This record gives sequence, structure tokens and C-alpha cells, in this order.
Amino acid sequence: MPGPPPDPESNFPVRGQLPLLRPDRGELWFPEPHRHLAGGHAWSSRPISDGESRAWKAADGRTTGRKVAEKARVSLGEVEGLFAWATDPSVQAGQWRHSALTGPDPGLGRLVGPPREPNVQEPDLAAWHRAIADGPIHFDRVETTVAHAHGLPHPALAGRTYGEALADALGWWPEPGLTLEIGPGDGELAAAIRPRAEPARWIRLDLSPGLLGESGRRNPGSPGIVGDATALPFGAGTIHRLVANEMIADLPSDLATGKNTGALSLVAEIARVLIRGGTAFLSEFGGADGLADSPPEPTVQLDHPEVSVHFEHLAHAARALGLEAHVVRLDELLGFDLGARQLWRPHFAGLRAMGSPLPARAWTPETLAPVLGFRVDGLRFVPISEPGPGPLVTRFWALLLKNP
Ligand SMILES: C[S@@+](CC[C@H](N)C(=O)[O-])C[C@H]1O[C@@H](n2cnc3c(N)ncnc32)[C@H](O)[C@@H]1O
Repeated sequence: MPGPPPDPESNFPVRGQLPLLRPDRGELWFPEPHRHLAGGHAWSSRPISDGESRAWKAADGRTTGRKVAEKARVSLGEVEGLFAWATDPSVQAGQWRHSALTGPDPGLGRLVGPPREPNVQEPDLAAWHRAIADGPIHFDRVETTVAHAHGLPHPALAGRTYGEALADALGWWPEPGLTLEIGPGDGELAAAIRPRAEPARWIRLDLSPGLLGESGRRNPGSPGIVGDATALPFGAGTIHRLVANEMIADLPSDLATGKNTGALSLVAEIARVLIRGGTAFLSEFGGADGLADSPPEPTVQLDHPEVSVHFEHLAHAARALGLEAHVVRLDELLGFDLGARQLWRPHFAGLRAMGSPLPARAWTPETLAPVLGFRVDGLRFVPISEPGPGPLVTRFWALLLKNP
């Protein structure tokens, strides 16, 4: 049942944290509570006059409706009209409060509505990957990785890129030897690390010919092979270093038995191809809980189904094959500063909805301003431990293997 109408003399209108004001076009953008897209809600806009914009900004939850109207130099009716729209359940852009806000309220950043439908399980993930044909934009549009989101120097990594931080953390290069990167995606990670390694002995293996072409363009002189991670086309004891960054969730999993079957096959292949003293790094989202844990969870953030990886299963299998295995949180391994800021995920979606071709990077206020090219009021930047344009790094783990 709706309550009594708000009394603008004693009640406080407050704008939500989600809507964004686009002053150059006179538009107020908001996520639609009942419409979902991959990675978030669909966004819409409504026209907003200069007076309404002033009222919107004045509606801080500590100023009564009457005072908001006075401050914004608009009629009380305009404030009431704006907030009648904003408080509609199909919009949820703002609220009327009976008492003044006394501090931050996380409820102002949430929507109430039906959850997103789960992904339809892809019958053939390998076929899906083989067919990827949008190499240059794939990781901005479809399958953003932690590595891609941090592909530009970032304060969370002390001004380094993900690839530089990974190379520092592993400390493997410039030791000579063959490096095999499995699933290099657009090749950004390879491009960051290869200058420290032997660039011509960095081999890329990918199931997707389209992405292999893309990573090759970024890494001239690095051999590329179309192949499958679960059947590596290399002889026993031939590889010195192996990197599989955020690709093992793409391999098959058996949801019924809770086994990451494809990743387990890759671990067996790694045990076969690593030279004595050779090392491997695998990262992915998932958990490091024990063997009796829950089955892999499907992700809801991508527009195609992947499942989480049970890292202790993989480590156990690797040890049984004679490898040394360590499981470590990815943020700890790379030394992520989880308090550093990035653009809030809903606002990344909002900027995209406005037509910006913004790549999926962990933008800071300083890096965003020059690439955005227009003014937006209301943008939030949140700690790296909260959702940004890329996946949450705190959900990721790394498996470090060594053939002793
Ligand atoms: C999510 S992307 C990760 C890309 C990159 N490593 C990064 O972290 O941004 C997964 C990559 O693995 C590749 N891939 C998926 N299944 C594969 C398989 N069975 N064998 C080899 N590569 C595969 C995809 O084509 C893609 O390049």
C-alpha cells in the first residue's frame, strides 16, 4: 500500500547514487530496475530542465522539499513533479525521507527488482571460443578480465599495468627459456611481459583463430598456434614457463560432479610439458576451499556461461602428478591496493548507455576525464574491492606450479 504523500515542508527529497546527469544534453540517466543486460541493468534517460537539474543537485537528503525549491529557484510543484517521477517503482532514482540523512546510505545505490535470469548453459564452449571474431573489442564488450581492466598503469598496482605487476610478482624473467601462454586473448599481457623475456620464445596458443590473430598483431615475432589447452601440441619436458591467465573457466566443467574437468586436464598437460625446474601460473575466479566443497558456480556477470574454479582440486591433482603447487589470492600475489579507486560498475554501464565507446578499464577520475570527452555529474569511484568495469579481483585465485 502506498503511504501518505510526502510533505515537502517537513520531508527530505534525496537523489539516488545511481542516476547520472548529463548537463550538456539536459538528460538525467538512470538504470531501469526491471531490465537487465549482461553485466548490469539497461539504462534510460529523461530530459531535465536547468531548474530541475538545480533541484536534483540540491536534493541531498538533508534539505526539505521547500528548501530545495528555494535553493534551486524553482516552484515547489517542480520539485514534487521531479520526485514523483524519481520515486516511481519503475525508476527508483530517488526517495523522500521522513528524517534528514545523517550519513552515507548504501540503500541509495541499490534497486529493488527481479534478479537477472541465469545464463543459458552453452552446449559447446569450445565452439563459442573458436568463433570469436571481435578481437579488438572482445575484452571491452564481452569478456572483460582483471588483466584487461588493469591493462593501463593503475594506482592499485603502484602505477604498473597488470602484466608488469605479474612479471614482478613471478620474478621468472629474464631467465632464458620457452614461455607458453595459453589463451592470450588480445595479447596485452604478452606485450607487457615479453620485453623482459626472450620475445621470440614467447609462444601463444589459442583456440580462437580470431583472437590469435589479435594477440599476434600486438606481439610481432611471437609464434602463434591454434590449439586446445587440454591437448597441448608440445613434447614432454619442453616448456620452461607457462602462463594461463583467466582462461581455465573457459574449459569444460561438470556441474553435476563439481569438477573443473577441463582445468584438471590442463594441469595434467602442464605436468607433462614442463621441463625440470619449469614453472606455471594459472589464474581464474573461484575459491580455494577444500575438496568437500560445493560445485563450481556459474557466473552471472558475463553474457555467456562460465563456472568458478576450485583451486584446491587443481592443486591436489598437480601434487598427485609430482608438481609443487601453491594456491594464493591473486590480489595478494600482485600486491593490489584494494583501497585504490576505480569507476563504479553501474556508472561504467551508464556511460556506455550514453553512447561512449569507453573501454572496460578500471578508470580513475584522472584517467577517465581525458578519454570521456563530456561532463557527467554524479559519477562514483569505489575501492578496487567493490565492483568496477572489470571482474572483482578479490574473487580470483592463482595456482603456482613447479616441476621440481
Ligand atoms: C577470458 S579470455 C582471457 C584472455 C587473456 N588471457 C586475459 O587474461 O585477458 C580466454 C582466452 O582463452 C582462449 N581459450 C578458450 N578456450 C580455450 C582452449 N580450450 N584452449 C586454448 N585457448 C582457449 C580464448 O579464446 C581466450 O583467448
